[in-house]
Amino acid sequence: MPKDVIIACDFAGKEETLAFLDRFEEEQLFVKVGMELYYAVGPEIIREIKKRNHKIFLDLKLHDIPNTVGKAMKALSKLDIDMCNLHAAGASKMMRAALEGLTGEDGKRPLLIAVTQLTSTDQETMQNEILIDRPLDEVIIAYAQNAKEAGLDGVVCSPLESGIVHTACGKEFLTVTPGVRFADSEKGDQSRVTTPSRARELGSDYIVVGRPITAAADPVAAYRRCTAEFLG
Ligand code: C5P
Repeated sequence: MPKDVIIACDFAGKEETLAFLDRFEEEQLFVKVGMELYYAVGPEIIREIKKRNHKIFLDLKLHDIPNTVGKAMKALSKLDIDMCNLHAAGASKMMRAALEGLTGEDGKRPLLIAVTQLTSTDQETMQNEILIDRPLDEVIIAYAQNAKEAGLDGVVCSPLESGIVHTACGKEFLTVTPGVRFADSEKGDQSRVTTPSRARELGSDYIVVGRPITAAADPVAAYRRCTAEFLG
């Protein structure tokens, strides 16, 4: 099972992003492009990153009716990305349509990962506003199982949830986990955080790391420290 550190490139524009990536010279990275950067720059940012030979997780979290998500995924499949995602709350029919749209004529496709519950949603919000009256862990496991049954490759979750997801869905089912901080660094707005080495012990397959790398005085050194701790 390939494990890797995904750098969250949460930059506002193209120049800033490419200047950041150019610091790494020949190293092949796995980078996450989120809504902010993709909506600001468009598909060009994907082509520019690919020109530099990096892998891409396009984090757009699709959620709409099955037909729309299927067609949107077909458009994204032309972009040469390595991983993308959707909301498991869109349910099985939507997830299957997404897979179908994403799969090329040669049968190949990027990894497709489901968001279970956003980490910004706590038990109280889920109960009072989304009206889901079940424990958060139970919801995460059920959504992960739905994603697995629909044929998806894994879920985005907290490193603290990697264990329960692997127990419910098997070791091969990927856990892609943000909320990672070095033991000696700022948490920022993340509340439930773990270190890269703890994420490895908990069984995360990919860790998504933003500011501890992008805002470091020496991002290349921070990235190397992160991979050394996570990959062991
Ligand atoms: O800078 P930081 O390491 O907190 O960045 C984490 C990245 O992972 C950000 O791009 C954030 O949007 C994303 N993310 C998250 N929690 C989730 C899903 C995505 O922090 N549940």
